[in-house]
Amino acid sequence: MSPQKTKFPVDIEKMGRSATYKTSLGAAFLGDSLQLLEKLPDNSINLVFTSPPFALQREKEYGNKGQNEYVEWLAEFAEIVYRKLKDDGSFVLDLGGAYEKGKPVRSLYNFRIPIYFCDKIGFFLAEDFYWFNPSKLPSPIEWVNKRKIRAKDSVNTIWWFSKTEFPKSDVTKVLTEYSDRMKKLLEDPEKFYDAKKRPSGHDISKAFAKDNGGAIPSNLLQIPNTDSNGQYLRGCKNLGLKAHPARFPSKLPEFFIRFLTEPGDLVVDIFAGSNTTGFVAEAEGRHWLAFENELQYLATSSFRFMDEDISEHNMNIAYQKIMVNDSIEIISDTLQLTLLEEASTYQA
Ligand SMILES: C[S@@+](CC[C@H](N)C(=O)[O-])C[C@H]1O[C@@H](n2cnc3c(N)ncnc32)[C@H](O)[C@@H]1O
Repeated sequence: MSPQKTKFPVDIEKMGRSATYKTSLGAAFLGDSLQLLEKLPDNSINLVFTSPPFALQREKEYGNKGQNEYVEWLAEFAEIVYRKLKDDGSFVLDLGGAYEKGKPVRSLYNFRIPIYFCDKIGFFLAEDFYWFNPSKLPSPIEWVNKRKIRAKDSVNTIWWFSKTEFPKSDVTKVLTEYSDRMKKLLEDPEKFYDAKKRPSGHDISKAFAKDNGGAIPSNLLQIPNTDSNGQYLRGCKNLGLKAHPARFPSKLPEFFIRFLTEPGDLVVDIFAGSNTTGFVAEAEGRHWLAFENELQYLATSSFRFMDEDISEHNMNIAYQKIMVNDSIEIISDTLQLTLLEEASTYQA
C-alpha cells in the first residue's frame, strides 16, 4: 500500500488556515492547539502523543507555566483531547519532574495531573511509564552538584491515558531483545531448565521456553536522549538557526506509536516543537498532525522531511517561504522541483 494513496483521516481543509507544510502522510499547523484541536471532528484521533512545556522553576525560552496554575492550564487541552480521541484512542503525556522554587523539595505537579485528568475529565490511567534517560545532565546544580544533597534526576513520568479500559494496544509490536539467559534457554530448553514452581508460586512450565520473537517490554523505558537528528540539525546549522531546546528522542514516540496505533491511523502532537512525533509517525506509515505556536520551530522542523541530498540553497528557500507564512509541500522526490520553480522569488 503506497502511503500517498491512503485518504487523510480528517478533512484538513476545515482547519481554518493553510498547513505550514504538508508531507505524504501529515501536515503541520501554526497556532494555539486549543483552537486547532477544536477544528477536528470528535472521535477522530487514534493517539495524541506529546510533551508539553514543563512547569519548571526557570522559564525556558518558549515560556512555561508556573507549577500552581499548571494543572488547570494543561487540563484545558486535555478536555478537548478527550472529545477528539476515538473511543479506543490514547493520550500519552511526557512530563519531566521539577523541584519547588528555592527548596530541595519535589513539586507534585506531575502527580497531580493523572489524579485531575481521571477524577475530573474521565480519563483512565491505562499505565504509568517512566522514561530513564541515562545521558541526562545533573540538575538542579544547587542541590546535586554544589551541596550534594540530592541524587541526579534522570526519569520523566509518561502517563498513558485512555477513554475506555481497553484502548487499542498490542505489546507484541514493541517486543525487546531477549536477555542472554533467555536466549540460552531458547537454544536448549531441556538442558537449561527444569519445569518447576518459583518461590513466588508462579508455575514456570516448558511453555515458557517458547520463542515469541522478543521479550515483553517493561514500563521503564531506557532511552538516551542522544539522537543525532541528522537532517534537522544539519539544516539548522547550515542556515545559522537555533535548534529546538527540548527535543525528545525519536525512540520515545516510536515506542508508543507502534504499541498503540496501526498503519493509516492518525497521530497528533499538540505541542510539536521540532515535530519529532510527526517525523516518526511518517516513517511508521501513520497519518499525523503537528500543532505548534512558534513559527520558527515549525519552519526548522520541516528540514526533517527533506531529502538527504537537498542543497542548502533549496533548504533556505523552503525555510524563507514558511517564514513569510507561505505553505510548502514536501513530497520527497518532488520537493526539489517545486522549490526550484519558486527560486527566483527568494534570496539564498
Ligand atoms: C517541550 S516542547 C516539545 C518538543 C518536542 N517534543 C520535540 O521533540 O521537539 C513544547 C512545545 O510546545 C509549544 N507550545 C506551547 N504552548 C502551545 C500552544 N498553546 N499551542 C501549540 N504549541 C504550544 C512550545 O512552543 C514548545 O515548542
